[in-house]
Amino acid sequence: MKLDLIGKRALVTGSSAGLGEATAKLLAAEGAAVVVHGRDKRRTEDVAEAIRQAGGSATTVLGDLATDEGAAEVARAATVDGPIDILVNNAGFYRHVSWSDASPEEWNETYNVNVVSGVRMIKHLVPGMRERGWGRVITIGGGLALQPMNTHPQYNATLAARHNLAVSLARELRNTGVTSNVVSPGAILVEATKEFVTRIAPARGWGETWEEIQPNAVEELIPNDHGRFGKPDEIAAAVAYLCSNYAEYVSGATIRVDGGLIRSAF
Ligand SMILES: NC(=O)c1ccc[n+]([C@@H]2O[C@H](COP(=O)([O-])OP(=O)(O)OC[C@H]3O[C@@H](n4cnc5c(N)ncnc54)[C@H](OP(=O)(O)O)[C@@H]3O)[C@@H](O)[C@H]2O)c1
Repeated sequence: MKLDLIGKRALVTGSSAGLGEATAKLLAAEGAAVVVHGRDKRRTEDVAEAIRQAGGSATTVLGDLATDEGAAEVARAATVDGPIDILVNNAGFYRHVSWSDASPEEWNETYNVNVVSGVRMIKHLVPGMRERGWGRVITIGGGLALQPMNTHPQYNATLAARHNLAVSLARELRNTGVTSNVVSPGAILVEATKEFVTRIAPARGWGETWEEIQPNAVEELIPNDHGRFGKPDEIAAAVAYLCSNYAEYVSGATIRVDGGLIRSAF
């Protein structure tokens, strides 16, 4: 399948690392001109450079999306070379805290970064898509929205909010040529996940090497039909499909990419 994103301009928030990086690279490989975004200058520029080295088109914008001013500046800078047709709301974070350690401030900060940041970008960029009659908004949600764990409740709740707002946006955009959908990852192996799992492995008797640790960690933490963590490229592939014209009739949908971790029939 050729997704043919040539002529489209895509902003992937939080693409200096992890799932966003993989997504920016795949959208560029499918022909989109990609705006790579992050706060860390070196990592952001490294991703853009890797895209250009591979023959793709990439520029960079830096900024914190957690403030109105920061988000406005990111939107302004991202549209200097032309309007944005594809917005991937991916930037986000969590701290691995328990119910008792998650203070009201922690809840507020997590909601602001993980939910309101995406809303800010929607408000800046979707009106232009609507005027031009074509656009794609992809929200990165997560399995913890539907099947939350007892830990990091402040984070689980932000994923649920992302799923909810993306569907509301889809209904708002009816008959405009702009769609809004969710890609919902299970547990995907990014640097921070591997570091965390490797750190807690000895105390849990999971082994020493990643080959030993992975099956045990999967069995205990994220039992799924494939016996492994997901890969960032597997998330990127679902995002890329939703960005294409093949997905024109898909709106307000959630594509789960979780190896069967989420035990829901639909
Ligand atoms: N990995 C998973 O298993 C998984 C599962 C479900 C959902 N998700 C979601 O997928 C998204 C990406 O996760 P990841 O695992 O790839 O994380 P990651 O490797 O930590 O990358 C996070 C990205 O978000 C950016 N970011 C964080 N806070 C920001 C802020 N205030 N303003 C602007 N940018 C900010 C970071 O930019 P800088 O580092 O440059 O500052 C970085 O590019 C997150 O929203 C996460 O909730 C991940």
